[in-house]
Amino acid sequence: MTVQIIRSKKELRAKIKQWHMQSLVVGMIPTMGALHHGHMSLVKETQTLVDKTVVSIFVNPKQFGPNEDFSKYPRQESLDIEKLNAANVDLLYAPNVEEMYPDGFLTNVSVTKITEELCAKSRPGHFDGVTTVVTKLLLQCLPDIVIFGEKDFQQYTVLKKMVKDLDIPTKVLKGKLIRDEDGLATSSRNIYLSPEERQIALEIPKTLKKLTEDIKNNILPLQQLLNNATQYLLNCGFKEVQYLEVRESESLNSVTEKITVPSRILIAAVVGKTRLIDNMPINSQ
Ligand code: PAF
Repeated sequence: MTVQIIRSKKELRAKIKQWHMQSLVVGMIPTMGALHHGHMSLVKETQTLVDKTVVSIFVNPKQFGPNEDFSKYPRQESLDIEKLNAANVDLLYAPNVEEMYPDGFLTNVSVTKITEELCAKSRPGHFDGVTTVVTKLLLQCLPDIVIFGEKDFQQYTVLKKMVKDLDIPTKVLKGKLIRDEDGLATSSRNIYLSPEERQIALEIPKTLKKLTEDIKNNILPLQQLLNNATQYLLNCGFKEVQYLEVRESESLNSVTEKITVPSRILIAAVVGKTRLIDNMPINSQ
């Protein structure tokens, strides 16, 4: 199948309206492109639930800080289109920056509290960029279902809350975290890693796995386990461990001692110039 490519919100609206008039269920997978098998797994998960699948590709300038990788973020539209064709995706929505943020654009969508910690500490303004663009994408497309990968667990939680708070009539799904064969969580940024850096990066999933076991077995107080793991990662060659924390999965509230509700270990760490994030559930969810 050849994916239909649409670049304007007007055309997108007309197409989705036509599908909805035929009572077809529409699912959307928002992405920034450089599609890897993590994205394609989100496509597959969505396809089991909907009649029509829309993938959006938009490298959103508003979610990158001034010293981040916006200009060098991988852009490979023709390769992405081949993958969408192979996966039988119905529509690619790929607006340009002017279409998304026309001259004079003044609005900012902001979720409070849960956007002030974890990734926000090292990426100020990032979540406002994400929530603003996702609100626009959802209002432009009005899909019945949208899916966000659980690799960006804070992003998923923030977007789910935003959709609920703003009464956006779209169901939010959490897509499975996909790992490469060696255990590294898939990410478009993994291509920045040299082979040596990748070996160091692999300590993230190994450490998370060991931590989940150690926490379950209660071998030391939680904070001590987290401090030891942070020191271990720094010794392995990470330039920085921005956070390594346990948070309640639903609320993202901090867990410092006993785990009483489904919780996750969340991490952001820098190897070389590449910032990686990952997470693992401790009990369920
Ligand atoms: O996760 C991403 O790729 C982006 O943050 C998203 C959700 C597509 C918004 O630009």
